[in-house]
Amino acid sequence: MKNLTVFDHPLIQHKTAILRQKETPNKEFREMVEEITMLMCFEALRDLPVEEVEIETPIKKTKQKMLKGKKLAIVPILRAGLGMVNGLLNLVPSAKVGHIGMYRDEETLQPHEYYCKLPADIDNRLIVVVDPMLATGGSAIDAITQIKSYGGKQIKFLCLIAAPEGAKALAEAHPDVEIYCANLDEGLNEKGYIVPGLGDAGDRIFGTK
Ligand code: PRP
Ligand code: URA
Repeated sequence: MKNLTVFDHPLIQHKTAILRQKETPNKEFREMVEEITMLMCFEALRDLPVEEVEIETPIKKTKQKMLKGKKLAIVPILRAGLGMVNGLLNLVPSAKVGHIGMYRDEETLQPHEYYCKLPADIDNRLIVVVDPMLATGGSAIDAITQIKSYGGKQIKFLCLIAAPEGAKALAEAHPDVEIYCANLDEGLNEKGYIVPGLGDAGDRIFGTK
């Protein structure tokens, strides 16, 4: 699928296996979410623009490459996306953070938006939307549609686990968005959960079940 990157790095695979285990405690689950996000971010942001700046080492003046501007916005889809924010901020501490609140109706699986607060200059930033789970794709599709309605143009979507159905739906709805997932799973079960997946990401991050 065009615009879809699935990671095969052994560290990402190992940490995701820990994430999936049902006995992994909330604290370790949160740590794994953050660490995997950081590893993904390293690759997903490889096209960040750089510029030559003059600096001085203890030896001499030299021109070196540094990030151009501070033009990144991270947008977690609440709640579970919050778990990925620090993974990105650890590497790009100057990024602005917007929030989109979405919940999936457990019966219909339809997404519902309940909150949206984005940086004022969102139209001028590379936007990284994060959510650990891409299941039917409904939440990500609606969140990105909303971001675009606020002027968002250059958008990447990072998730930890995707179902093929969700990846396909998102790629079709937003062909301009680059999708990065740590793992592409088998599919969805009758309740719309990713198989084998990891269960409910929000509940496992926040200990609500
Ligand atoms: C989960 C997950 C995604 C969504 C994925 O959120 O974090 O946002 O489901 O499903 P979809 O691709 O079928 O839309 P949930 O609605 O459980 O809310 P939560 O993060 O607050 O737990
Ligand atoms: N949301 C989750 O948290 N997990 C799934 O498997 C599907 C949607």
